[in-house]
Amino acid sequence: MTDAVADQASPWAALTTEHDYRVREISGRVPERLRGVLYRIGPGRLEVGGHRLGHIFDGDGMVSRFAIDDDGIGFRNRYVRTHHYTKASKEWIGRGVGTQRPGGMVANMFRIPANVSNTNVVAHAGGLFSLWEAGRPYRLDPETLETIGREDFDGALKLIGAFSAHPKIDARTGDLFNFGIEMFPRPMIRCYRRDLTGALHRLGTFPLARPSFCHDFALTEHHLVFLVDPIVVGRPLRALLGLDSIDGCMEFKPELGTRIALVPRDGGKVRVIETDAFFHFHANNAYEEPDGEVVVEIVRHRPVGGWAGWNRSLRERDGLDGSAFGGQLERVRISVNGRVCSEPLLEGVGCEFPQIDHRFEAARHPATYVAAASVTAGAPDTIVALDHASGSIDGHRVDDGHSVCEPLFAADPDRAESGGGWLLSVEHLGAQARSRLVILDSERLSEGPVATAELEHHLPMGFHGTYVPA
Ligand SMILES: [Fe+2]
Repeated sequence: MTDAVADQASPWAALTTEHDYRVREISGRVPERLRGVLYRIGPGRLEVGGHRLGHIFDGDGMVSRFAIDDDGIGFRNRYVRTHHYTKASKEWIGRGVGTQRPGGMVANMFRIPANVSNTNVVAHAGGLFSLWEAGRPYRLDPETLETIGREDFDGALKLIGAFSAHPKIDARTGDLFNFGIEMFPRPMIRCYRRDLTGALHRLGTFPLARPSFCHDFALTEHHLVFLVDPIVVGRPLRALLGLDSIDGCMEFKPELGTRIALVPRDGGKVRVIETDAFFHFHANNAYEEPDGEVVVEIVRHRPVGGWAGWNRSLRERDGLDGSAFGGQLERVRISVNGRVCSEPLLEGVGCEFPQIDHRFEAARHPATYVAAASVTAGAPDTIVALDHASGSIDGHRVDDGHSVCEPLFAADPDRAESGGGWLLSVEHLGAQARSRLVILDSERLSEGPVATAELEHHLPMGFHGTYVPA
């Protein structure tokens, strides 16, 4: 395989062009009740002017839109027109999480990472937003994907305006909850609620003992639930002075333990519980038992080599192999008197990108879906469903050399009780350097896709997305 072909075969290979077309080749039958739009986002290019970016977190955000309608499937992709995208298109290199600007310390000193708006895309109250956790969202046109502009929600996001990439939408009220990490005057997490009129309300804050990486949270009927792990900026001065990349200054310090924060949705006092260290990024869903016990599902990692070990594959990125995609689904229980215990789910299945039927967000969910690796520390090549009531596991594995991304759930209105629907994922066809949309019945994964839609090109793996029913 030549270098060019090998690069194209990487799920992270760039797609620098923007497209609008109807998909010509659809196999199987798209279900009649599946009508809506799937949005996905991730770094569309990991190179600027021939300069290889240091980390997959640093690529400019590119949104994909799959519109499923009575006539088939339409595809569109657009880069988010961030300040960084505009400047990078003129070969200007910004500082990233794992990318240093050329020019050494002077070029990087006191520079915060550029907002590349590449982590998630969320639809709420008529708006579509691309998200990146250390800065403001960008508002996009849901149809054309045109960038409308940087969003501060009528001034509610102040200063840097960190608005994290994993908001949760309460299935009962339609309110969106989220948070942002603020560093000044001291490290803290600020929580938000956005109502159905689009107004953003500030909820509580709680202090962080030190600058920490907190990527996700979960929502219950009464609380926002945070597990703040001891993944910390261990050498903040080096990062600030530009002597090393931000990720190069981060460390996992298990001796510091994890701090669990329960932030009441109604603005009451925040409860903080100290427990043994977890190492995780994604929370799946949470709910409360009748006795007040809080239950939260996370994907937990136990990386060899701590932070550096986990981070390495995301820096090298030539494939998807590495411990970063081989976490363990775990259920964590936090009792009313502060006792914390956890139990593994899906034992022996290395996974990431947990998803649920969002009709059950903040309530007990019937099933969890993940992208799993069939080989330890391999690339995610299997979509797995865990039925919580029966404990049964079902899965669909793609061909050797292919990989899959996060399986997003599209609800079937006729199967609201059981939580049935379809899982939408993008399969990367390895050496063929092409991608396809895969549609699976969430209750019959092992029967294989009900439909696939072949793209005319490769689509980078990406991180997260959302499905919006018609
Ligand atoms: Fe994430």
